[in-house]
Amino acid sequence: MKSPFKRILITAALPYANGYLHLGHLAGAYLPADIYARYQRMKKRDVLFLCGSDEHGVAITVSAEKEKTTPKNIIDRYHPANKAAFEAFEMSFDNYSRTSLPLHHETAKDFFREFHKRSIVIDKKAQQLYCLKDAMFLADRYVEGTCPKCKSTQARGDQCENCGTWLDQTELIDPKCKLCGTTPVVRETTHWYFPLGNYQQRLESYIAERDKRDGWKDNVLRYCEGWFKDGLKDRAVTRDLNWGVHVPVAGYEDKVIYVWFDAVLGYISSGKEWAAAHGKPEAWKEYWQKEDTKYVAFIGKDNVVFHCIVFPSMLMAWNDGNTEHYVLPENVPANEFLNFEGQKFSKSRGWGINVQEFLKFFSADMLRYALAVNLPETRDSDFYLKDFQARINNELADITGNFVNRTIAFIDKNFGGIVPKLDTLNKLDEEMIAAVKQAPSTIGELFEHYSFREGLMEVMNLSRAANKYFNDSEPWKTLKSSPERCSTTLHVAIQIVRSLAILLEPVVPATSEKIWKLLNLDIPLREDGWDSASEFRIKEGHQLNKPEILIAKIEDKQIDEIVKFLEGGDKPEAVQISPLKPTITIDDFKKIDLRVGRIIEAEKVPKSEKLIKLQVEIGNERRQVVAGIAQHYKPEDLIGKLIVVVANLQPAKLMGQESQGMILAASNESGILTLVGVQSEISTGATVK
Ligand code: MF3
Ligand code: ZN
Repeated sequence: MKSPFKRILITAALPYANGYLHLGHLAGAYLPADIYARYQRMKKRDVLFLCGSDEHGVAITVSAEKEKTTPKNIIDRYHPANKAAFEAFEMSFDNYSRTSLPLHHETAKDFFREFHKRSIVIDKKAQQLYCLKDAMFLADRYVEGTCPKCKSTQARGDQCENCGTWLDQTELIDPKCKLCGTTPVVRETTHWYFPLGNYQQRLESYIAERDKRDGWKDNVLRYCEGWFKDGLKDRAVTRDLNWGVHVPVAGYEDKVIYVWFDAVLGYISSGKEWAAAHGKPEAWKEYWQKEDTKYVAFIGKDNVVFHCIVFPSMLMAWNDGNTEHYVLPENVPANEFLNFEGQKFSKSRGWGINVQEFLKFFSADMLRYALAVNLPETRDSDFYLKDFQARINNELADITGNFVNRTIAFIDKNFGGIVPKLDTLNKLDEEMIAAVKQAPSTIGELFEHYSFREGLMEVMNLSRAANKYFNDSEPWKTLKSSPERCSTTLHVAIQIVRSLAILLEPVVPATSEKIWKLLNLDIPLREDGWDSASEFRIKEGHQLNKPEILIAKIEDKQIDEIVKFLEGGDKPEAVQISPLKPTITIDDFKKIDLRVGRIIEAEKVPKSEKLIKLQVEIGNERRQVVAGIAQHYKPEDLIGKLIVVVANLQPAKLMGQESQGMILAASNESGILTLVGVQSEISTGATVK
């Protein structure tokens, strides 16, 4: 079927400029977006690929407070660093912008003014959490509490990271100020609300239609279904902060637009900046406001609601009142998360490695290849350094590198580097030619549908087949026994080298360039086009360049070096203890009855990631206690442990399970948790004081 689209607009989520990018970011949104963009350019499609830094919101101000500096200093440190990291990683953005630009503030204000003018946003009095000690309203991440949905105790004021629910801060159970730890009070303020509910029906049909046309990913559809089922509600889109885009309505200038309500518009601003930089200030409209643009928005899974619900409804609202219509995403491919050596990346725990550091040890292509074969497309995946080494050595070097090298070296040695003649074909040649004819469309189809992992696997299969073809054809024997055979084999082989350079370009662009140089072709790599990979375009008699090793293998000692670096450097910042709670009297403390207990049974609570149900012996009593420790302990390892129980705590229900008490555990901000026990055997039921 012929595509109804004339051009492709690609965006990748704007990363917060509050820390360095790590490998997890790359695997989530950026590498897939870049493979897609590069592939589409190779297909000779008209592509605009946009990104930039997200520089507003509490993510930035909290980082500034932690680092004892200003938000401006934070973004000025991390925006250039992340921009440079993307360049080092060979991201092919047409523009990398930042939301602190006046141009972006104007874009966001335009949308807000439009919504205000047409009474789409309405101001309402709202009860919000206010910290008396810090004398401020606790927007978003300034408040933490228990998620009303999944009961995670670390839900933030706007979102629970554990279950992905987008929260209204007043729904939080037991909220605490993030700055001082005290319980905030509820105070009245005024905010502007965007009526998401009014768009629910249209959003549902929008998603269903695009899914039908372009095949949305299951994870994305499931998230959306969940929100639709709960019913979309009015959402406050302003905040009592002074970092961000100020609300452009008289009397409200001291408030800012909610970060997500401005950030998604950053994609549009990035397009405007790109257009201006190219001396054609209106050109961004070509991509953003033409019906025959295919817009694809790449994100990580924690961004789904903002891209599938908030952003489209904002664009719908704008479009309803204007003749210029923005295009809505045709697809929103979202990846799951990547772990590093079996654990979540964590800035606060200093776990993981940032992009620029990694690239001091290994090339961008090596990283791109290893991430691409292992993208968390349907489920979380893991990055292990040993696995990284094996992938590069056994696949990229041994299969692709070896084939390219042996072909060019053979021609160099035996034909003086001159491409020999294609003579009569035998069955092996025919099979090889058939495989390479088929490859661009098979692989292209997979890339077209966001299956980058599988697409790359097909490229590697072609490499593998080519190596086998070389082996089975035994040119080192036919060189003497049957020279026409030999020259035919090498003629076919060198064509496949060229095809591989094209097919690999979206994933490992520098390696492709290197192959292209060895081939000594006149036309630049990106001009021949994707589909030409099925054709034989190198002429008999063409002079090749001297062979060079394409991919050097990674030695054990290089892995040792990076491991040493990881262990030595990048330590978590000096640990600051969380603020103490107000003083209590000894009588307050005596109200708590702490007892030694022994865990006799333990099992995971079904459907809960965090909860374990314990049967605890306290003297001759038995208690059922539900504890949020499943991410730290395996049930079977708990049996027999002596622990400390708050024995007179009012019973509660957690995920439908009765809990008659609480067990003590020590935990810190880095997410480490360990149970509190006693130093030696003592009978259960003993008091603790
Ligand atoms: N800064 C957000 C994050 O890192 C992503 C913003 S995407 C945007 O999760 F579109 F809203 F900009
Ligand atoms: Zn939750």
